[in-house]
Amino acid sequence: MKPTALNLSPSFLALASHATEAKDWHMRELFAQDPQRFEKYSLDAAGLFLDFSKNRFKQNTLTLLLALARERGVEAQRTAMFAGEKINITEGRAVLHTALRAPHDAQLHVDGQDVSADVHAVLAQMQGFSERVRNGEWTGHTGRAITDIVNIGIGGSDLGPAMVCGALRSYRHARLTMHFVANVDGHDLDAVLAAVDPETTLFIVASKTFTTAETMLNAHSARSWFLRHGSEKDLARHFVAVSTNTAGVTAFGIDPANMFRFWDWVGGRYSIWSAIGLPVMLAIGYEGFRAFLDGAHGMDKHFRTAPLEKNMPVLLALVGVWNRNFLDSGSLTIAPYHHDLRRFAAYLQQLDMESNGKSVTREGAPVTAATGPVVWGEIGTNSQHAYFQLLHQGTDLVPVDFIASLQPTHDLPGHQASLLANCFAQSEAFMRGKTAAEVRAELQAQAMPAAQIDALVPHKVFAGNRPSNTILLPALTPSMLGALIALYEHKVFVQGVIWDINSYDQWGVELGKVLAQSILGELQGKPAGEHDSSTRGLIALARQRL
Ligand code: F6P
Repeated sequence: MKPTALNLSPSFLALASHATEAKDWHMRELFAQDPQRFEKYSLDAAGLFLDFSKNRFKQNTLTLLLALARERGVEAQRTAMFAGEKINITEGRAVLHTALRAPHDAQLHVDGQDVSADVHAVLAQMQGFSERVRNGEWTGHTGRAITDIVNIGIGGSDLGPAMVCGALRSYRHARLTMHFVANVDGHDLDAVLAAVDPETTLFIVASKTFTTAETMLNAHSARSWFLRHGSEKDLARHFVAVSTNTAGVTAFGIDPANMFRFWDWVGGRYSIWSAIGLPVMLAIGYEGFRAFLDGAHGMDKHFRTAPLEKNMPVLLALVGVWNRNFLDSGSLTIAPYHHDLRRFAAYLQQLDMESNGKSVTREGAPVTAATGPVVWGEIGTNSQHAYFQLLHQGTDLVPVDFIASLQPTHDLPGHQASLLANCFAQSEAFMRGKTAAEVRAELQAQAMPAAQIDALVPHKVFAGNRPSNTILLPALTPSMLGALIALYEHKVFVQGVIWDINSYDQWGVELGKVLAQSILGELQGKPAGEHDSSTRGLIALARQRL
């Protein structure tokens, strides 16, 4: 049955009218009116803690949002996803990243394939290989142990392993340095090659399709670089692949025995749990990787079984829908207060924006309400000294997700308390703001002349009432990082269901890829194609230099 257009659904209409009242609420008052607000609007799940109380809503807002989730079929779609139904309708695929982190005894068959058996067979292959590299048994062609691992991949084949290896830096193997090359810009690969020794370097060519232009060019260049130092027969000790495309891997010259498989039901941006996580297993070992999977599985269990009103990904998603569709916020800032999470915002950008950056419904009709926000961010406290000014006093409403771990993995005195103090202070400042009366009293206490006070007050007022969530981890361990990523994956899923979009395809990236292929030909001497004057002019300028 065709679903009702979102903007005509009863709960959406009720929320739209409710939002006209909400425009007059200030969170300061909401907190003053309800001393239990924090207890009511915070929860634990899978080891994580979420405080969503600093958002502009009342209990009846939440009731309406939960009704919207039910009306849009979140529960049924959740069941369909976990069961392996082909919810990626434009590609006719199941969406089963949750199966990658399920325990050994999980039973799941899709199209006659024993998903669980396949997943655990590849995990065992990864374990055997990573143990040999880590213990020095797997050597380079001259018999020296591997010291550097270069992952060549882009998008989901780069951001996941790069972010997770960075985040779990303090768990890494002491001999192994991880490098990530994604950009087709040769400066990326060049810088890495300048820092590594061909005798002790292992390249992982990571590509779901094994056709992505950037990855293929980087892999061929790395291969040529290696062949200046070693011979063809030595390649097998220095190049392995992670892919769904055996033919492509073989054609590149990598022995299929050194290939780690995954499947078309793993989306690129959901692939960190698959063999795409091989750099993570190499860095932190099998046990660490298993803990990472188990942490995510803990969040899967919570998401699958908790009632919607006590379901962390659902609540995070609903607050996001409220901010996006009813309070008109166009973006979401991610502010991790943990230095090792410095690639987390970039990772979430792909997860959220490639999934929910859509403007037609699953049936192909134009959407009738805003979909995915622009996701961006940077670690705290650095971001406080860069763009928080706009978040506090600018004209846009930009909700913030603060993410912090209570325990650090360093033992430098004083730093952790200072970090957390900043994190909590920012969320308080965004919520409370500072009134004209408060500013005036502060300036009067400094004995400032009245005329000067009058001039300064408007500049020093903070409106406040700016929404934020705070997510706390006990510590940034493999397991808690797994739970954190899974939390956002399910949040994106719930929002996609509410907006009735397919969160699992990414046709929007295709046009640029096709045009780049034809422009590449023209830059390399083929006759100029049909272009607008700007593109034609740029190509002509570049041709003079190439
Ligand atoms: O172009 C987008 C995209 O397809 C992403 O979805 C994907 O993560 C990335 O490219 C890399 O794809 P592959 O792993 O097939 O090289």
